[in-house]
Amino acid sequence: MISSIVPATEENILRASLLLHQGSLCAFPTETVYGLGGNALSEISIKRIYELKGRPPSNPLIIHVSNRGDASQVATNFSEEAELLASTFWPGPLTLVLQKQPQISPLVTAGLPTVAIRVPAHPIARRLLEVCKLPICAPSANRSESLSPTTAKHVYQSLPETPMILDAGPCQLGIESTVLDMTVSPPKLLRPGALSLLEIRKILPKVTVPPLTISLGTEFARPSPGMMYRHYAPRASLYLIESLKQIDLMHFTQPIGCIIRSDVELKEVPYLLIERLPNDPKLYAADLYAALHRLDDRRVQSILVECPPKTEPWQAVLDRLYRASHKNGTMTSP
Ligand code: TXA
Ligand code: MG
Repeated sequence: MISSIVPATEENILRASLLLHQGSLCAFPTETVYGLGGNALSEISIKRIYELKGRPPSNPLIIHVSNRGDASQVATNFSEEAELLASTFWPGPLTLVLQKQPQISPLVTAGLPTVAIRVPAHPIARRLLEVCKLPICAPSANRSESLSPTTAKHVYQSLPETPMILDAGPCQLGIESTVLDMTVSPPKLLRPGALSLLEIRKILPKVTVPPLTISLGTEFARPSPGMMYRHYAPRASLYLIESLKQIDLMHFTQPIGCIIRSDVELKEVPYLLIERLPNDPKLYAADLYAALHRLDDRRVQSILVECPPKTEPWQAVLDRLYRASHKNGTMTSP
C-alpha cells in the first residue's frame, strides 16, 4: 500500500484543497498528464514545487484556472485571437502565454513578464479548482527532465515525497498541452502537444510554427525559456533510429527495449522487449510515456524507438522523442 496515493473521491479532493491552502502540494490528474499542484499565489508553495521537482528556476510554471473569467486574475491583455482560442478550446489541452498580472509572483514566471495559463478539462482537476478557489501552479508531476506521469503510480515513482497524489486512473491524452505564445502576432507555437495544429489552424490560420526537426541527432532551437534540450527522458538511454533494419538485433546479450508502430513487421528476437504503439499520432501519444515507463520498470538499459513519420500530425510525438534521445547519439549496432 502506497500511502500518498489516494482515490480521487470528493472527501480526498477536499483534503487536497486544504493542503493547497496550507502552502503544501498535491498531485492530481489532468486530461494530458498528472500535475504537481501548489497555490499559485503563495511563494512558499511555488518554491516547494521547484524544490520537489529539482526544476531549474529558469523554467517557468503553468497556472491552471477554472474558467476564462478566473484567467483574468492571472493574465491580462487577451487579444481577440486569445479570446477566440480560449472560447473554442477551454477547457482543454491548450496553454496560452499572455502578459502576467502584477499579483503573480516572478517566481512563477521565472522573472518573465508573461505567464502560461490553461483551463484543464479533467473532471477531478476541475473539481479541485472549484473547491479550492485558487489558481493552481501545476507543472507535470515528475523530476525535472524525466518522463511525465500518466498514472498516479508514475508520480509516486518519480516524486515519492509528494504529500498527496489523487488517483483517477490513466490520463486520456497522455502528452502535455500545446503551448502558444499569444504576446506576438501572429501567435507562435512554443510546444507542440495534445491539441493538434490542424485544430488550431481552423481557428488561427496564421499561427507561426517552427520547422519540424528533420534530421535525427541534430540540434534544434529552444522555443521556450525553460525548454531544455534533454527532457521527457526515461531512465534508460533512448535511441531514436530511422529503421530497426539498421540494427543487428540477433546479437543482443541483455534485455533491450524497443518501441515500434503496430503496422511494422518485426520477428520475435531474444532479449528484445517490444512495445507496439498504434499507427495514429494521437493514440501513439496517448500510450508513449506509459510504454517508456513500462520498459523502465523492466530495467532495460537502452530503448530503441523507430522514428514515426516526420510529418506535422506527428510533431508533438517527434518533439518528445527528440528531446528524450538528446545526447544519446545514434545507435547502429548493439
Ligand atoms: O499538459 C500540461 O501542460 C501539463 C499539465 C499538468 O497541465 N503541465 C505541464 O507543465 O506540462 P510543465 O511545467 O511541465 O510545462 C510547461 C511548459 C514548459 O515548457 C515551460 O517552459 C513553458 O510551458 N512555459 C511556462 N511559462 C512560460 C512563459 N511565460 N513563456 C514561455 N513558455 C512558458
Ligand atoms: Mg514537464
